[in-house]
Amino acid sequence: METTKNSTFVLFLSILVVLNVVNATVVDHCLLGNGTLPDQVELANCLTPPCIFYISANSSMTMKFRSPRYMENFAPSAVALAMGITVNYPLDQDDACDGVTNTPCPLAENEYIEYTYSMYILPIFPKISLTLEFALVDKDQNNEQFECFRVEIQLEDLPNGSG
Ligand SMILES: *[C@@H]1O[C@H](CO)[C@@H](O)[C@H](O)[C@H]1NC(C)=O
Ligand SMILES: *[C@@H]1O[C@H](CO)[C@@H](O)[C@H](O)[C@H]1NC(C)=O
Repeated sequence: METTKNSTFVLFLSILVVLNVVNATVVDHCLLGNGTLPDQVELANCLTPPCIFYISANSSMTMKFRSPRYMENFAPSAVALAMGITVNYPLDQDDACDGVTNTPCPLAENEYIEYTYSMYILPIFPKISLTLEFALVDKDQNNEQFECFRVEIQLEDLPNGSG
């Protein structure tokens, strides 16, 4: 009886673990930037890149990590590499605290953080594939990166009937 209970409990825990990682996207360390890879990155509807981002639409990205130190002023920063060209991708957020969903700012050292950003793909973009490096930078430390991930993105037109 006790054994059955224990096995059931272990099975339950295993299911929780599986459910927990099911949304994680497979991403890489940054090569241009030197921020730490977050513990988990979740790009909406994408487990295995290339991830599809729709032109003229928002694509939601979540980073889960532990704050490396006390953090008061930090911001997102993105670089796109396409067709041999590297460009800073314009983001509309100066204060990344606006994207921290699980705790108020400032961040304490080693605090668990969930940060979500909705990236808008400008209508000027053609249907290309690109490499995105998305980072969080510490504005109080010369914009030094502290978290960064790299992922392949495929830009597509919105499916007919939506948008
Ligand atoms: C990243 O590079 C900056 C200088 O460009 C350096 O100050 C910083 O310590 C580096 N960070 C890591 C995590 O290596
Ligand atoms: C994208 O998100 C921004 C900020 O949340 C919002 O203002 C904008 O209307 C959204 N754009 C589209 C096309 O959904």
